Amino acid sequence: MRITITDLQEMKQKGEKIPMLTAYDYSTAKLVDEAGVPLILVGDSLGMVILGYESTIPVTMDEMIHHTKAVVRGTERALVVGDMPFMTYHTSVDDTLRNAGRFIQEGGAQAVKLEGGETVADKVKRIVECGIPVQGHIGLTPQSVHQLGGFKVVGKTPEAAVRLLNDAKALEQAGAFSIVLEAVPAPLSKLITERVSVPTIGIGAGPDCDGQVQVVSDILGLFTDFVPKHAKQYARLADIIKTSVGDYVSEVQAGSFPTAKQSYTMDEKIIAELARSA
Ligand code: KIV
Repeated sequence: MRITITDLQEMKQKGEKIPMLTAYDYSTAKLVDEAGVPLILVGDSLGMVILGYESTIPVTMDEMIHHTKAVVRGTERALVVGDMPFMTYHTSVDDTLRNAGRFIQEGGAQAVKLEGGETVADKVKRIVECGIPVQGHIGLTPQSVHQLGGFKVVGKTPEAAVRLLNDAKALEQAGAFSIVLEAVPAPLSKLITERVSVPTIGIGAGPDCDGQVQVVSDILGLFTDFVPKHAKQYARLADIIKTSVGDYVSEVQAGSFPTAKQSYTMDEKIIAELARSA
């Protein structure tokens, strides 16, 4: 049985922290699911860490659906959230509903996430009315990087802090089942977490959120272009991969791979006969 939004709500009520992690492919999703992560995000961060774009802005619906399908196939227990890419929920309510519906119907996800607070609350409400759970995302919203003037902490001034609290309340009112807080000062995240009834999930938002989300490639040390301040590397898979691939290259070049162990055999008589006759 998959985790449901009711389970997540109960976790907040019981004070049980909610770990959330991104995944973008079948094999990684399977491992993340087996390791006990209850909430998996197919983040549009895949644009940067999987597809090599400079930001999340070029990511398309078709790319997101492709990766969402793979993640869903790899998971049995986690609730899978599909991240709505840039400009797929901004033009009209019709477009928003069609795109949110694709994540559920084609991708097999159980929920969608979109960026923004008060300005997208009407769209959140309409998606929820269609029976699709929505996770909000406020604070640093990477799809608005040009409007924000870069990747910066959001909510430090009194006006910005009030705006963020109002955004969180608007999402809660609209029916969002959870809210991601990205790059928000820890004391403000704590206050928002106390003031809304739905679970807050922080990334660079301090320890007092109801849960935490990280990009899987950051915590495993797989993405080497940069390491965000809020990420902790639990492993350095990039080093392990480079060493292992280097060993493979050397062994192929030296002729020491493959050995008999990695080779298939056949009846010697057949090959001897073939050598004689051909
Ligand atoms: O795309 C993503 O990975 C995200 C998380 C950083 C919250 O939106």
